[in-house]
Amino acid sequence: MRTLTNADNKMFDYKTISKLENEFGPSFYVLNVDKLRENYKKIEVAFKSRYENFIIGYSYKTNYLPFLCKELSKLGAYSEVVSRLEYDLAIKIGEDPKRIIFNGPLKSQDDINIALENESIINIDSIYEIDFVKEYALNNQNKQIKIGIRLNFDISQNGVSQLQEGYEVSRFGICVENGNLQYSLNKLRDLKNIKVIGLHGHFSTRNRDVESFRKITQKICDIAKGNSLHSIEYIDIGGGIYGELPKSFAKRVPTFDDYAEAICHIMNTEFDSFEKKPTLILEPGIAMVANAFIFIAKVIETKTIRDKNFVLVDGSVHNIKPTMHKHNLPMRIIRQNEDVKANQLFNIVGYTCMEKDYLAHEISAELPHKNDYIIFENVGAYTIVFNPPFIKERPSIIAADQNKFFVVRKKETIRQFFNEEIYCF
Ligand SMILES: Cc1ncc(COP(=O)(O)O)c(C=O)c1O
Repeated sequence: MRTLTNADNKMFDYKTISKLENEFGPSFYVLNVDKLRENYKKIEVAFKSRYENFIIGYSYKTNYLPFLCKELSKLGAYSEVVSRLEYDLAIKIGEDPKRIIFNGPLKSQDDINIALENESIINIDSIYEIDFVKEYALNNQNKQIKIGIRLNFDISQNGVSQLQEGYEVSRFGICVENGNLQYSLNKLRDLKNIKVIGLHGHFSTRNRDVESFRKITQKICDIAKGNSLHSIEYIDIGGGIYGELPKSFAKRVPTFDDYAEAICHIMNTEFDSFEKKPTLILEPGIAMVANAFIFIAKVIETKTIRDKNFVLVDGSVHNIKPTMHKHNLPMRIIRQNEDVKANQLFNIVGYTCMEKDYLAHEISAELPHKNDYIIFENVGAYTIVFNPPFIKERPSIIAADQNKFFVVRKKETIRQFFNEEIYCF
C-alpha cells in the first residue's frame, strides 16, 4: 500500500505515476473510491429526500469488479443482476440474497428455483419463465411465492422512438399492448400461492431524458392500479439516468435532482392514499461508476507517417471504449518534461494490430513523448466487464481511497490468460 501526497486530481503527477508503474505495470485502471461513495450518496439523497421508501439496486453488469460491488453493498445498495454468474458473485461477496434483484432475459428453472428459495427479488422478462415459477410454486405449496414482472410498453414521444439506436420497439419484458401482460397475470393467478408484488420497467433511452422517466413511472403506476395490484410492494423503474459528466464535456444533462423530482412527484401523487407506499427501485449503472475510474497508459513512441502523428500507448481502445465509438473521452497528458512547445494534431493508438484501435482521434495539443503518461477519464462503465482479453493480458486495477493506493485486481499473467483448467494444450 502506498501513501498519496494529494487526494485531488493532482494526485497523479509524473513521479507518483512512475512509482505506480514500477509496481503495477505501464498501464492500469484507478478506481476513486471516494467518488464512488459520493455518487451513491448523491443519488440516494436526491430520491430519498423526496420519497422515503427508496432503494438503489446497483446494476452489476456495468462493472462487476468484486471490490466495487462490495463497497456499494456496504453503502446500502441492493445488487441488480442479470445472470446466474452475477447472482453467484453477489452471494460470493456476502450479499444478503433478499437484497438481490434478479433481472435479465435468460433464466433457467434452476436459476428461478434458487432465487425463489433464497427469497430474492425476481422480475420475469418473458412468458417462458412463468412455467418455471409455477413449477416451483406447485412443489412448494406451503410457501407464498412473490414475483415481479418486467413490462414492455410504448415510450415514444410524438411518434418518435426514444430507444437507444432508434429501435422501434424494445425486445425486453412482457408486452402490455398486445394482451401478453393480462395473459401472464392470469396464468400466474392460477395458483393461489403466487402473488405479483412488483412491476419493473427498464428502457435504455437515447437521451436519458427526464420526460421518458416521467412516462415510464406514470405508465407503471397506471398498470399497477388498473390491474388491482393493491398489494404492490415495489415499482422498479430500472436504470438509464445520466451521471455527472466531467466539466470538459460542455453538454448539459439532467441532474439527479431533476430525475428524482419528476419520478418521485408521480409516485407521491399516485400512492398518496396508500397506507404503505410501494418501494421505488432505481437501478443505476453508468451514473454510479463511469466517472469513478480512470485509465493510465504509458506513451511508448510518437511517430509520424506522412503528415499524421500517432502516439502509441500501452493500452487499447478496448480498455476505454469497447464499443469503439469515435468521441474523445476527457483526458490529461502527464509529461516527463514540461517545456512548452506548439500544439500539433495527433491520434492516440493502441497495441493491437487492428487499424481501428484508436484511443483518441485528432487531438490538438503539445505532442506527447516517449515515457509520458496519458490519463483517460470516465472509463468505469462497460469497460472492465466488456473488454476481451485480446492479444495482451488484462491490466491491474488499483483503488485509491483515503490517500492510499491498493490493488483490487492484479495484472493478468499468461497462466491465467491460458487457464489450463479450460484450455487443452
Ligand atoms: C435491467 C437493467 N437495469 C439497469 C441497467 C443500467 O443502465 P444504466 O447503466 O444506463 O444506468 C440496465 C442496462 O442496460 C438494465 O438492462
